[in-house]
Amino acid sequence: MQRRTDFLVIGSGIAGLRAATDLAAAGSVLILTKADPDESNTGYAQGGIAAALGPGDSPALHAADTLAAGDGLCVEAAVRVLVEDGVRYTRELVANGARFDRDASGELSFGREGAHGVRRVMHAADATGREIGRALWSQVAEQARVRVERNARVTRLLIRGRRCHGVAYEDDQGTHEVEAAAVLLATGGAGQVFRETTNPSIATGDGVTLAWHAGAQVTDLEFTQFHPTALSAPGAPRFLLSEAMRGEGAYLVNEAGERFMTRYEAAGELASRDLVSRAMLAEQQRTGRPVYLTMRHLDATWVRARFPTIAAACRVAGFDLATDPVPVGPAAHYVMGGVETDLWGRTTVPGLLAAGEVACTGVHGANRLASNSLLEGLVFGARAAQVMLGPGEAGAAGGAGGAGWAGWAGKEVTSSPPARPALPARAPSEIDVRDLMWNSVGLSRERASLETAISQLDAWYAAVAPGIAAGGLSAADWRLASIVTVGRLMARAALRREETRGGHARTDFPARDDVNFKVHIGERIPGAHGRET
Ligand code: FAD
Ligand code: SIN
Repeated sequence: MQRRTDFLVIGSGIAGLRAATDLAAAGSVLILTKADPDESNTGYAQGGIAAALGPGDSPALHAADTLAAGDGLCVEAAVRVLVEDGVRYTRELVANGARFDRDASGELSFGREGAHGVRRVMHAADATGREIGRALWSQVAEQARVRVERNARVTRLLIRGRRCHGVAYEDDQGTHEVEAAAVLLATGGAGQVFRETTNPSIATGDGVTLAWHAGAQVTDLEFTQFHPTALSAPGAPRFLLSEAMRGEGAYLVNEAGERFMTRYEAAGELASRDLVSRAMLAEQQRTGRPVYLTMRHLDATWVRARFPTIAAACRVAGFDLATDPVPVGPAAHYVMGGVETDLWGRTTVPGLLAAGEVACTGVHGANRLASNSLLEGLVFGARAAQVMLGPGEAGAAGGAGGAGWAGWAGKEVTSSPPARPALPARAPSEIDVRDLMWNSVGLSRERASLETAISQLDAWYAAVAPGIAAGGLSAADWRLASIVTVGRLMARAALRREETRGGHARTDFPARDDVNFKVHIGERIPGAHGRET
């Protein structure tokens, strides 16, 4: 028997959870999430969520900063939606119980981050994502019609008559198929495509891989944001040192203890992330030594209280955040591109919506403004839900699960654990792919190494693609296959964009070229691997 739910949500970060809270009012919602439900980029978000709620701020000012960071490539209508709806949905989040930091008079306290003209970042110390997740999960928990399946890895979108009507997924009991009136991809980012990343291990670009193989358009994938300040100590994880630290006065210094940013950028430590990352690399090359983030000129008690999570991670790595300069370096942090959507989360495949980091609404253009990502997930997760609830594109609810989940305790196993097809010996190791992406498709790119990387990625893709199409790959092989697929799409787009803009820097084309490249680069292979089911 085919399982059916009204609404399928893939992923349990901010975008998926925000959508689910509205969808549950109209029908049954099944959230499939491939790991522990709290394990998501959302759960690690530190600095905060931006919205024009503070004194002296307005959606117009927020839009201006977003457009400037996007370096000429933002979709302006999407930015307007983000900043205007952002006010409404962040207010709602606070009203629904998210506890952000407040000042002595009880008013919300707004932090400053790079490339923001005013203080507009709401935060919960340095663990804002965890607090937002807590608030959204408590709303979801109140909804009898939401069911969450953990360790449920979606491996295929079901396509019939060119429309998405469900997904296939795997868990430790076997392979399942579930149908729905509408499917929301909220699978997050793809930092794991690169050797150095701030992202947790779930961030393997699965949504892009799934959607692209189902024939959806993917766009702007040459634009990866490299966060300048990830911990860079031998043997330590690439833990993020939030941009909010620089917003609160932290300096970048070289080994001699000299501040260097203003020699490269007038805005100093608060220039946009691509500019700070490149200035740090230039200083490292100039001195041949690491660069550091330091707060030792600030009050130590305040530093430890304002950034407790970061202070704890630094302590484990042997540094006192309040008194030691901490070695930092860039790491892949956020993918601006993704599955192309309209302003309501509709992809080019009917029945399939996307929201959050997996989506490309065009809101970030070539580079995302700090703390706009949580906001994007919140706003566009809610908007996608409105479409899924309506009678239009996705179709109205009304499936078997509409009455709620009572009686649905058992799971239909459509096939027992599959005989796992092995990837051929010519498939790469994961570290080979991530090394290649870091070295050739990383912070700076140029034609020859991109071409070499693409021919390698093409060969690796040929090795993994049959496994994706056939299904049944082990979790590790699927992860590898997704990293290869997304890495290849990123490299191909990076080769096509012969200019430097936002997060995409070409050493052979160091200038921005508005005449030829004020365009979005997309790819779509209709029906390449999307199986009609
Ligand atoms: P995620 O929160 O990543 O959720 C994705 C979900 O999809 C997960 O539950 C995952 O398990 C699931 N999933 C993935 N693939 C599959 C599959 N095949 N099958 C089933 N489930 C699947 N942004 C800000 O705005 N402010 C910040 O302060 C901030 N700080 C950050 C700090 C760090 C360290 C990192 C890594 C990111 C930060 N970001 C920040 C970015 C922001 O956190 C993310 O872009 C945002 O949370 C993405 O939300 P999402 O809902 O789209 O995806
Ligand atoms: C950070 O806290 O520096 C991350 C903020 C973001 O990615 O927007």
